[in-house]
Amino acid sequence: MMEKDNLDWGNLPFGYLKTDYNVRCYYRDGKWGEVEISSSEYIPVHMAATALHYGQEAFEGLKAYRGKDGKVRLFRWQENAKRLIHSADGIMMAEVPEELFYEMVVKVITLNAKYIPPYGTGATLYIRPLLIGSGPQVGVKPADEYLFMVFVTPVGPYFKEGFKPVSVEVVRDVDRAAPLGTGTFKVGGNYAAGMRASQRAHENGFASVLFLDALEKKYIDEAGPANFFGIKNNTYITPKSNSILPSITNMSLEQIAKDNNIKVERRKVPIEELETFEEAGACGTAAIISPIKKIKDHSTGKVYEYGDEPGPVSTKLYYHLRGIQEGTEDDLHGWTTIIDGI
Ligand SMILES: Cc1ncc(COP(=O)(O)O)c(C=O)c1O
Repeated sequence: MMEKDNLDWGNLPFGYLKTDYNVRCYYRDGKWGEVEISSSEYIPVHMAATALHYGQEAFEGLKAYRGKDGKVRLFRWQENAKRLIHSADGIMMAEVPEELFYEMVVKVITLNAKYIPPYGTGATLYIRPLLIGSGPQVGVKPADEYLFMVFVTPVGPYFKEGFKPVSVEVVRDVDRAAPLGTGTFKVGGNYAAGMRASQRAHENGFASVLFLDALEKKYIDEAGPANFFGIKNNTYITPKSNSILPSITNMSLEQIAKDNNIKVERRKVPIEELETFEEAGACGTAAIISPIKKIKDHSTGKVYEYGDEPGPVSTKLYYHLRGIQEGTEDDLHGWTTIIDGI
């Protein structure tokens, strides 16, 4: 498959770029209908749709990677499909069956195959599945109709300058999610709740915020759009919390750490422990790992520093996971799915 010829792959932003097609499917009368292909970037939405009023909306984010061998791989798409079911269930939406999720993801990638960035550019094809309550309600209750759609957009490397550490800001005056709230679901409301804090962090020159647990403000929860980990004594330590998104990247890094004889601990991480880490990082689909060089506590002014270069453990984990996604490392756990014919 030929790539689109007028795109500067190495300099794409990490943002939205129009492609040719998206795919859609409606849930009506208790069942999913036919998959439709659309070339419109717009969706007709009823003004009383529950997505608009009561936040019945969930999404996913995954990527297709062009490997060194020319093959196109999806990474652990089953986990994204399961997480969407978990999110849908959490806010009372119709669940998208795993097979429908996969069918639509493959279809939209295949239709837009020329937008899959070539190997070696650092760019990838970002896939955004979106599930919304499209049926009208005025009272607060779940919609009767849902729209599931998937679009794709080529995105540039998350770090233009390469794999470079960033600074993050701890916030205490904004909570992303309550302990028994919607934090484990990938729903728009969580991002709306955190937006004030992340915008302020950006204005203060930080790449992201670091949220603390909402109840006690004692433990680290997660970064704005990514989970958190710290490294010390050859151990990968990541917060256990019932208000963070279960990151598929984090789950994979934990396994890769074990495969590399690095110990793994998933437990509460008190904020004071930041003092003791040799390395710290944020992890997610967008960047795999964003190493952290500095964490500043917005309220107390305290600063924790980890050096201007990525640490050895973060570097090892980053290249190992990236290698699996690009087909240059053995896929020991069967995490990748090759999409045939493109
Ligand atoms: C709030 C939040 N936490 C964590 C992650 C990382 O999750 P994943 O590794 O599945 O991309 C994301 C991004 O998807 C996110 O938005």
